[in-house]
Amino acid sequence: MRPLNDVRGETEPASVNGRARGVLERYAALLPVTSATPALSLQEGDTPLLEVPRLAAWAGVASLYVKFEGMNPTGSFKDRGMVVAVAKAVESGARTILCASTGNTAASAAAYAARAGVTAVVLLPRGKVAGAKVSQALAYGARAIALDTGFDAALDVARGLTARYAVELVNSVNPHRIAGQATAAYEICDVLGHAPDVLALPVGNGGNISAYWAGFRRYRDLGRTRSLPSIVGGQAAGAAPLVLGHPVESPDTIASAIRIGRPASWESAVAAATESGGEFRAVTDAAILDAYRQLARREGIFCEPSSAAGLAALRASVAAGRTPAGSECVCVCTGHGLKDAQFAPALEDDAAPLPATVEAVAAALGVAERRGS
Ligand code: F0G
Repeated sequence: MRPLNDVRGETEPASVNGRARGVLERYAALLPVTSATPALSLQEGDTPLLEVPRLAAWAGVASLYVKFEGMNPTGSFKDRGMVVAVAKAVESGARTILCASTGNTAASAAAYAARAGVTAVVLLPRGKVAGAKVSQALAYGARAIALDTGFDAALDVARGLTARYAVELVNSVNPHRIAGQATAAYEICDVLGHAPDVLALPVGNGGNISAYWAGFRRYRDLGRTRSLPSIVGGQAAGAAPLVLGHPVESPDTIASAIRIGRPASWESAVAAATESGGEFRAVTDAAILDAYRQLARREGIFCEPSSAAGLAALRASVAAGRTPAGSECVCVCTGHGLKDAQFAPALEDDAAPLPATVEAVAAALGVAERRGS
């Protein structure tokens, strides 16, 4: 491990005089903010970029970092774009924001609506959203409506509604969401001092991969970095329209956050993968859960299963000889493990309970007694 004081320079400081700055304040110069934009914040952004040598060995690359986006205020990367989208909605006079969601967008929209004093309506595919995400959205006071369909059709309804009624769409087809999410690319470059060779992330609706690609290009155009990363997008094998090249009618995967068959940002997602010299890669549910387990056990990073699709795709890409093993890579873990913990208990053997005594536990552990006791 590196010494504690090995800190690199930052272009945009994450805090000033000890006070953390959220995304809108820290990257104001690079966001569509005006003097009328409210200073909305839950101190999102500035998430950990963790060097993960044991995971690098597992993935087969020379150098690997995890950008742990689960450390945002609502537990996912969505907060970066949502703070911008909600601030802009409020600036334009909107009183109600609306999204369709596989869960994380809903939780984030609900939180920022509460913070801004407006109403959030979230359309959720019934029975297909991790319970903790629904609880989160409800706890923040959102109006949650279950629709008897999948995410893709729910997004169609959201788009249809916002086209005809006075409610603001905050799905990632809203360009303010993409502008905000690009700040994750800025942060990676600010911390590393350069762009990585490869960025790997899970891809569902295609918004985040588009945002990263826009962010890395922006920093390069500003002269803050010299190179651009190749972007590897991981899709679940049962929900891999961007790998197959055509929509998937009934997407099927345990990775519920990315169970999407018709990505709304199809073209910009394809542009990010192809222009960057990267690729989309389909990974099985078993490979996703393996990566999920490795993140937690090798490095102490507990993300939700969908979040691990980027790492699974990176490993597969290296094994296929598509990504060079000598690359410096950053893997984005998009959401926190506590959001979708149903696959975690299966990682542990079901141990029978022991009598509640020191001796019984010590005997089970097989630990040596302290000398003199
Ligand atoms: N990872 C997580 C944890 C997500 O929640 C999502 C998307 C993605 C990755 C994929 O990002 O859609 O920009 O390609 N979740 C959306 C939602 C669809 O409604 O919360 P994308």
